[in-house]
Amino acid sequence: MGLKVRPTGRSGESMSDAKIIDGKAIAAELRSRVAEAVSRLKETHGITPGLAVVIVGDDPASHVYVRSKGKHTRGAGKASFEHKLPAETSQAELLDLVAKLNTDSAVHGILVQLPLPGHIDENAVIQAIDPAKDVDGFTTVNAGKLAIGQPGLFPCTPVGCVMLARSALDDLTGAHAVIIGRSNIVGKPVAQLLLQENCTVTLCHSRTRDLPSVARLGDIVVAAVGRPEMVKGDWIKPGACVIDVGINRIESDDGKGRLVGDVDFAGAARVAGSITPVPGGVGPMTIACLLRNTYRAACAIEGVEPEDF
Ligand code: GUN
Repeated sequence: MGLKVRPTGRSGESMSDAKIIDGKAIAAELRSRVAEAVSRLKETHGITPGLAVVIVGDDPASHVYVRSKGKHTRGAGKASFEHKLPAETSQAELLDLVAKLNTDSAVHGILVQLPLPGHIDENAVIQAIDPAKDVDGFTTVNAGKLAIGQPGLFPCTPVGCVMLARSALDDLTGAHAVIIGRSNIVGKPVAQLLLQENCTVTLCHSRTRDLPSVARLGDIVVAAVGRPEMVKGDWIKPGACVIDVGINRIESDDGKGRLVGDVDFAGAARVAGSITPVPGGVGPMTIACLLRNTYRAACAIEGVEPEDF
């Protein structure tokens, strides 16, 4: 057991500032482990994992993410297939592409970048992805496997959150994890993953009564609400591990805007034992976990035992 709780002063405040969890460094380490495993997969079995990323329309932020996914996929020695479709693409055309990728033997992972244009039913597209290639872990098959504790492909950001919490606390057994936000992409899967780590889990949302008091129960607090700096320092139990999933651009004096998380970083860092920064915390872990999922999907599809990392 290794719940590391910081010493507190008589006031209950942490006597020193939180340890900053370096998501950038942890993600770089994970990416290099994936690259090494991919290189052995190629050498030993002649298999090159392939990831297909589909983007519809021209949302600039989504294009930035997709470029980055392609760059890191190639960087890890995998094949990257990018499908950039115009905003007018019909749902039938998109489903047709997904069906082709499902049967393409060079493709082991399929990621359809969200959000999709309003005329397309996102759920219909996600559910059309072969669960074996669902590297986002968004299909009902993989969500169900996660819920009943079976192996599968699980959402990248939640897996990254758990890795960061483990880097700070080692064993999460017995910790009370308070998650703020109940989305299918982050809140719900992170709750399931933390349950598997033997945490006691509280999943909060917009209707939770007295959210600050509930948050203060958390040895681990995961903030995933999409509201800039909503979680204040006095919501945090002294010594807690704070994982901030938010990425919000707010106005800054220079007019360029500034990225902040869902946590008031300065306030929370005075109380927490450890905390992820924004940027450089959870963000880089998402792509690293996507590379890991693609490697694992390729191993499962090709019938090779994956390396464990
Ligand atoms: N859009 C923003 N984040 C994600 C993600 O993790 N997966 C997909 N498919 N789209 C996203």
